Amino acid sequence: MSKQTVFSGIQPTGDIHIGNYLGALRNWVALQDDYDTIYCVVDMHATTVPYDPKELHDNRVLTAKLLMAVGVDPSRSLLYFQSQVPQHAELSWILGSMTPLGALNRMTQYKEKAEKAGQMLGLYSYPVLMAADIMVHKAHAVPVGDDQTQHLELTRDLAERFNNRFGDTFPIPEQITPKRGARIMSLQDPTAKMSKSDADPRGSVLLLDSADTIVKKFKSAVTDSGREVSYDQEKKAGISNLLDILSIYTGRTVDALVDEYADAGYGPFKQAVADAVVDGLAPIRTAYNSLDDEEVGRIMSRGALDARTRAEHEMADVRTKVGLGG
Ligand code: TYM
Repeated sequence: MSKQTVFSGIQPTGDIHIGNYLGALRNWVALQDDYDTIYCVVDMHATTVPYDPKELHDNRVLTAKLLMAVGVDPSRSLLYFQSQVPQHAELSWILGSMTPLGALNRMTQYKEKAEKAGQMLGLYSYPVLMAADIMVHKAHAVPVGDDQTQHLELTRDLAERFNNRFGDTFPIPEQITPKRGARIMSLQDPTAKMSKSDADPRGSVLLLDSADTIVKKFKSAVTDSGREVSYDQEKKAGISNLLDILSIYTGRTVDALVDEYADAGYGPFKQAVADAVVDGLAPIRTAYNSLDDEEVGRIMSRGALDARTRAEHEMADVRTKVGLGG
């Protein structure tokens, strides 16, 4: 039996942080063993908020390099820049005619981003392009963090609508989220998710941060005024977030960590989290430094070529079904 297809994307909007890694990218890497994996640097999505063209251009390669450094292997996964495969935008247009405005009005990410970026059509229809990304490859599963759940629900709804109207075409894609780490919180505000757009750089730990910076960020992590290290996402959101991070990086259970650190004091506990993250990120930095920009560029061009061939095959079928066939 042929393998099922996995698709996911990441925006090239700056350095990747451990939230991206723990919520999504480590699953991207793990799924390469058993699935036909397709991963995309979604550069067109990054144009939906105000941006600098030079920065976007540089960030695309930076993001591609980071993906390879964490273990996305171009010999096992298809990896490319979204804008180099125009079939994404074409399918997005077709899906737009099947998307009720009510569904877009409910999107919390739109509401949050529109407050800062203004109410723009591109930002509003962002989730439709995301659905097209997934559907243009007929993906069965999508590894993402918690914050993409609403977008995935819309994708499933659009796949069902299309199938009902034009005949069975798209799988209904499943969301894959890790049990722990699906929503890593900001170190400066443990009630908000860690985010690339956070105004305070101390809120997120970046994959390429130096050991010193990582220690400083964890030492300044906001916690409660208590003393005991214990897991309670409501009353001790900051400490619970740190426990989640430590548990993933050490492979130990939260219960075992609470047993060990309950009375250690917050200082030593934070140091232990920082040490584990420094160790975990070291191989990523080494791999990143060994990658050559030009070679990465060539890999991305080859990826786009393959992705265009695959997406065109699917779009030929879609065009025929909707009455736009040749
Ligand atoms: P983006 O670029 O914001 O984030 C990339 C991935 O990281 C996850 N993530 C987190 N996970 C845990 N904790 C956090 N604090 C955290 N912050 C981010 C995100 O859930 C995501 O999986 N809309 C998408 C990009 C996209 C996409 C797609 C994804 C476009 N088309 C098609 C999947 C399929 C986004 O903005 O991700």
